[in-house]
Amino acid sequence: MAQLWGGRFTKETDQLVYDFNASIKFDKKLYREDIVGSKAHVKMLAKVGILTDKEALDIENELDNILESIEDGSLVIDETCEDIHSFVEACLIKKLGDTGKKLHTGRSRNDQVALDMRLYIRKKLEEIDVELKDFLGVILRIMNENLTTVMPGFTHLQKAQPITVAHHFGAYFEMFKRDRQRLFDIKERMNFCPLGSGALAGTTYNLDREYTAELLGFYGPTLNSMDGVSDRDYVIEFLSALSIIMMHLSRFSEEVIIWNSNEYQFVEIDDAYSTGSSIMPQKKNPDIAELVRGKTGRVYGTLMSLLTTMKGIPLAYNKDMQEDKELAFDAIDTVKNCIILFKGMIDTLKFNKDVMRNSAKNGFTNATDAADYLVKHGVPFRDAHGIVGRIVLYCIEKNIGIEDMKLSELKSISDVFEDDIYDAISLDTCVNTRLTIGAPSVEAMKNSIKKETEYLKNS
Ligand code: ARG
Repeated sequence: MAQLWGGRFTKETDQLVYDFNASIKFDKKLYREDIVGSKAHVKMLAKVGILTDKEALDIENELDNILESIEDGSLVIDETCEDIHSFVEACLIKKLGDTGKKLHTGRSRNDQVALDMRLYIRKKLEEIDVELKDFLGVILRIMNENLTTVMPGFTHLQKAQPITVAHHFGAYFEMFKRDRQRLFDIKERMNFCPLGSGALAGTTYNLDREYTAELLGFYGPTLNSMDGVSDRDYVIEFLSALSIIMMHLSRFSEEVIIWNSNEYQFVEIDDAYSTGSSIMPQKKNPDIAELVRGKTGRVYGTLMSLLTTMKGIPLAYNKDMQEDKELAFDAIDTVKNCIILFKGMIDTLKFNKDVMRNSAKNGFTNATDAADYLVKHGVPFRDAHGIVGRIVLYCIEKNIGIEDMKLSELKSISDVFEDDIYDAISLDTCVNTRLTIGAPSVEAMKNSIKKETEYLKNS
């Protein structure tokens, strides 16, 4: 086992203690960041004259070799090492001897791991963003294709007013757009380099922190070395953003599950995205949507775990912080998979347009418009509300819709009604007279879609 310390110890570490303490089984994911970070450190050490150019070049070349060999599988990460940092350094020393031993000059594992994690999270922020962007493209396609696909809009899961599939999906477009903006904000805040913070109090070497920060694409170095090694805010912010993405995906999943149910039949999930039952031959289950909904709890859990882990830690570095990794890795992988699978499910979703339209027709979703008709003919809104309430009651008794009533029946409740009421409360009128910005009419939706398309192109 490669261990970076031991000089002041008189006994071997107990094996159980060693295993409990070791992190390589999960932090091996950071091999690339660790190597890239070390290369920048070495370049900087040469720039300020701590290493010779030759030493630096030898170390950099060997680090490149190590990276290549890990990636092509010829070098297997040795899980008996304590962590990925020890493994990489051990490999280097094996090849370069004393020169390799100079790598860690002016550095602590505390600022090293802080850097590795920042580089990793920064990369993953971008990867999740790419997935979200792709997903938004699918949502936008569905919006474009369903500008006139009328469906009921719900409040309290009760039919409320008619909308369109474009409008409904447009709501999710906005949510996932904000999720991307959140990721961007996090990156802006976290993109500072902790390398050079040392163990906690900086270092006595004349390190050029500006230079390493620049080499690694950071906006600059972090400004307090205690904070540099002990800040995990950005991981928490990321887990929070991931939790919000999952909350959105979960709501969307819930709707797909409802829409796909036998009772609704608004949509049909593609066979490729459904699963069967081992006993009930007729079943086609929405397991993907259910799993996405279910995994939301798991991602929230990582956020609560890390918040709780961090809350009692005195400055600066403490080993508790090693717990950030499995939580973050699990949440990132889970969310990435969920976005990809959900996108595929939505992309292949079949809309039963007739069923949706019929459903919109059958739940008095035009009642507000009937009341508005009366208002436009001089009836105060509160009276109009009462009149239409009585009309709805009448219709429920007769099992008909408002539009099925004869004019004489309507007039017996309010003589304000004229023949043009039928056009005023037709489904298409109800949708297409909603012209305010953000409303479901074709015209308003076209404007929104134009803006969303521009946003997607420029982001
Ligand atoms: N594996 C540790 C972590 O993930 C990094 C090593 C720092 N260890 C230390 N004993 N100072 O936080």
